[in-house]
Amino acid sequence: MLNLGILISGRGSNMEAILKAIKRQKIPINPAIIISNNPDAMGLKIAQKMGIKTEVIASKNFDGTRWQYDQKIIKALEKHRVTPKNGLVCLAGFMRIISPEFISKYKNRIINIHPAILPSFPGLHAQKQALDYGVKFSGCTVHFVDSGVDTGPIILQEIVPVLDDDTEETLSRKILAKEHKAYVKAVRLVAEGKIKIAGRKTRNQGR
Ligand code: GRF
Repeated sequence: MLNLGILISGRGSNMEAILKAIKRQKIPINPAIIISNNPDAMGLKIAQKMGIKTEVIASKNFDGTRWQYDQKIIKALEKHRVTPKNGLVCLAGFMRIISPEFISKYKNRIINIHPAILPSFPGLHAQKQALDYGVKFSGCTVHFVDSGVDTGPIILQEIVPVLDDDTEETLSRKILAKEHKAYVKAVRLVAEGKIKIAGRKTRNQGR
């Protein structure tokens, strides 16, 4: 069974959805550690309440390089046996770009959720980007992390309609509800070993 590490920075609602699903829906993965770069992240309290171990590795005022910071994260992951061999790392609202060294060490072991249908609207404020562009559908994407920003092989996507009177807030809320479902589904597929990567495509072997 894989050991799961989740990296957060704030609210932690995707993390919560994953942790709840592991318990209730019996996803075969061990929720080993939640790591936050922000000591005030709401998600830390949620995880602690659920009895999951947490660590804070504060990034504010850290004056080393990105890789030096990531080495601290890796040390915490390894301490909880979230290794490149036995681990899965989920980025869930983790507001930092991770270093190429971290990505290559944990190759195809790091996944992320993005609140848009990639490759449209990567980066920050994806929901606002989608609204401003005038698309009629948006949604979310769960993908493996590679060295680009939101560019790795896509595991799955869920769509929501964009209505004329949607605001950034209403659209974000609709997408977030889909995110929770999509992230849980993706973690299950990866935990069960059903996702195979071929180039920049993934295949769901369970289908
Ligand atoms: C989500 O919208 C996610 O797609 C984005 O950051 C937000 C995190 O929300 N990367 P939460 O912390 O999981 O509630």
